[in-house]
Amino acid sequence: MLKDRYDRKLNYLRLSVTDRCNLRCTYCMPEKGIPMIRPDEIMTKQEILTLARAFLELGVTKVRLTGGEPTLRGDLSEIIRELKVMGAEQVVLTTNGILLRDKAKEYKEAGLDRVNISLDTLDAAKYREITRGGELSDALAGIEAALAEGLTPVKLNVVLMRGFNDVEADDFIELTRNPAIHVRFIELMPIGQAEGKQAQFMPVSEIIERYPDFIELQSYDHSVARRFQKPGYPGIVGFINPVSCNFCSDCNRIRVSASGRLRLCLHAGEVGNLKSFLHDPDQLKQEILRLVDQKPQSHHLDLKSDAGTNMNEIGG
Ligand code: 5AD
Ligand code: SF4
Repeated sequence: MLKDRYDRKLNYLRLSVTDRCNLRCTYCMPEKGIPMIRPDEIMTKQEILTLARAFLELGVTKVRLTGGEPTLRGDLSEIIRELKVMGAEQVVLTTNGILLRDKAKEYKEAGLDRVNISLDTLDAAKYREITRGGELSDALAGIEAALAEGLTPVKLNVVLMRGFNDVEADDFIELTRNPAIHVRFIELMPIGQAEGKQAQFMPVSEIIERYPDFIELQSYDHSVARRFQKPGYPGIVGFINPVSCNFCSDCNRIRVSASGRLRLCLHAGEVGNLKSFLHDPDQLKQEILRLVDQKPQSHHLDLKSDAGTNMNEIGG
């Protein structure tokens, strides 16, 4: 079992499969001049699977595929299928949903368990603004497709921004009339492009305070969200406050970039490149075991993130 020096069980792998994206969310990517991973450094399907196998053998049970935008990979459904064949209990996806209308069925058939979809506004003009040109109707069609295929619960990730979407909280919460939809408000983290956007930061507690009649649910293990239900609504409203609250002591996550670099905390730098160990699975596992001991006890995001890159490379 993969454990770090603070005895935290590490069983959740967040694996970025590309840093490319078909959107340019203002808090995530610069408009142009995006520092990209060199194409020949991006892991092939085989490399991704070799890496994942080592983690699964070390006790990882849940794999989240992230990006950039993971659906841009033509071989994503093969990756999903192989991960399930290797015995991953849960294979889940974080996506902007733009391509899901066409892909949801294929992913479901490959064994995908569910999806998180990033959706910061329900207004088409504002969607175009925040994503620099994306079409809301595509994202909504993607959500519909995910629901239709039973990739549920579909969790909608809303990055909360003052003066932008705080006024839409009610509209998002209305979506939880559908039992298969969870809406999660996430605090804007000062990482990469978002570092200069402090004015837009809004604590999720301000939204929670607006709804004193909401019923709080028990949090499950390793959850980073406080979860509520609007009375009479079966869906769930979650609030994630990575900045103001510390859930580090319960953290079970490990992150790997699309080029095979290991990151033990969202807010700390990369500790090593696993790609050079892929030729020898035993050595690879030794290296993982050696590196996970460097997982920091907690982050200091209230001071400053040391992520040192944009979110499109980390995958959230
Ligand atoms: N703060 C909070 N969430 C972010 N995401 C990207 N950048 C940030 C940030 N600075 C979110 C995306 C997506 C997930 C992958 O990470 O909106 O939901
Ligand atoms: Fe793409 Fe997600 Fe970044 Fe938006 S937040 S640019 S959808 S990777």
